[in-house]
Amino acid sequence: MREEDKLALKALFKAEDFSDSHLDLITYSYDASDHVQAPDAVVWAASAAQVSSLLKLANLRGLPVIPRGAGTGMAGGVVPVRGGVVLDLCRMNRILDIRIGDRVAVVQPGVVYAELQKALAPHGFFFPPDPASGKVCTLGGNVATNAGGIKGAKYGVTRDYVLGLEVVMPDGRIMRTGSHCMKSSSGLDLTRLFVGSEGILGVITEIILKISPRPTAVKTCQALFADLSQAGRAVSEILHSAILPSVMEILDENTVRVLREQGGMGLPAAKALLLVETDGFTEQEAAFQLGRVKEIFTATGAQEIKMAATPQEAEDLWRARRMAGSTAAQLRPNNVAEDVTVPVSKLPALLEGISQIVGKYGMPFVLFGHAGDGNLHPKIMFDHKHPEEALKVGRAVDEIFALACRLGGTLSGEHGIGLAKAPYMPLEHDPLALEMMGSLKKLWDPNNILNPGKMGLPN
Ligand code: MLT
Ligand code: ZN
Repeated sequence: MREEDKLALKALFKAEDFSDSHLDLITYSYDASDHVQAPDAVVWAASAAQVSSLLKLANLRGLPVIPRGAGTGMAGGVVPVRGGVVLDLCRMNRILDIRIGDRVAVVQPGVVYAELQKALAPHGFFFPPDPASGKVCTLGGNVATNAGGIKGAKYGVTRDYVLGLEVVMPDGRIMRTGSHCMKSSSGLDLTRLFVGSEGILGVITEIILKISPRPTAVKTCQALFADLSQAGRAVSEILHSAILPSVMEILDENTVRVLREQGGMGLPAAKALLLVETDGFTEQEAAFQLGRVKEIFTATGAQEIKMAATPQEAEDLWRARRMAGSTAAQLRPNNVAEDVTVPVSKLPALLEGISQIVGKYGMPFVLFGHAGDGNLHPKIMFDHKHPEEALKVGRAVDEIFALACRLGGTLSGEHGIGLAKAPYMPLEHDPLALEMMGSLKKLWDPNNILNPGKMGLPN
């Protein structure tokens, strides 16, 4: 970046809200993926008006601007591949309004997901999507990536809860989309277009979210299987039964082994582990559903079934799932974690296919994820210092994406495309649909200043 561009940028921000220090540039060079590239500067915005001034200037001078929340993304979506300015929105962190009667919460993009839940709890309400990084991720990032999580099968994903937005367009104009209403059939749905747009179309500065009453009864159980196909059958039968679990997570044989050997967890050896939770507004409602789950686990030949009798016991059952990713990551210095998703009936084929693919390359890997909505997280561990390992991981990932698309699935169920999945977009999308995405980006951001180089779109 030219010195005169930096001076112009500095003039828009207080001294403490602009940085080009080496430390900050390194800090903002990565997210939770394996991609790294430093920006030229970092700014911290306090208002939509300030974002607007920044974008006006960047648009005139052709400076890339990369909007960012907590940086917990797993696809390189906020890595500044073309340099430029990282726009940190974490200081825009106010919950502006909670209106229980209207069932909406209005928030700034930097509000941490868990803070919204904390604010809703005294009202007996919650925001249903449940990303794994909820303690630290921001709602702006959740909207920008259409984040999912463990409750997708029953409660859907972020997109299902966004009613409206305030967005700063690349030329600095400020636009409002959607409404505060529970429903609207009015005009083209620009709100939905921005959800999952990964910061390439505009900067989200305010979000109107739909909120729901929190179910007061929750029941948890865990089953271990000596055979992966039995676990697959259990998932399928639960989905065919007339109940709707709020959580149905699967951990494969490798994940169970890593938790036993690396995580010191007192689990028996098993080919698969299923964690299921049911919820409702009465104990009977949740217990009835869990009873059906237990019957199915027994009928499909589970080797061990544990029902939590107390919240503490439920928390103990959750430990294996919560520790899965971080325990496996300790096996090697680097890892890739994907989020391929298939129609739920194809889940057994995806599980088996991924195990075969990665097994063939002889790399350490685990496979876990959200069985209830067909979303798996293959996580492959390797060491960048050994180029042959990185090469094998690349090949395995190519094959995993090809398999998911062959099964009628999607490259990303919840993490987004970013850099990591950009080259694979043609595998999934109709060429004309891809062309339309590129045309939209050109129309809305003709100078390509917003998060350029992402999502596999031209230039
Ligand atoms: C999860 O569900 O745990 C995340 O989406 C993926 C991960 O942390 O690997
Ligand atoms: Zn996930």
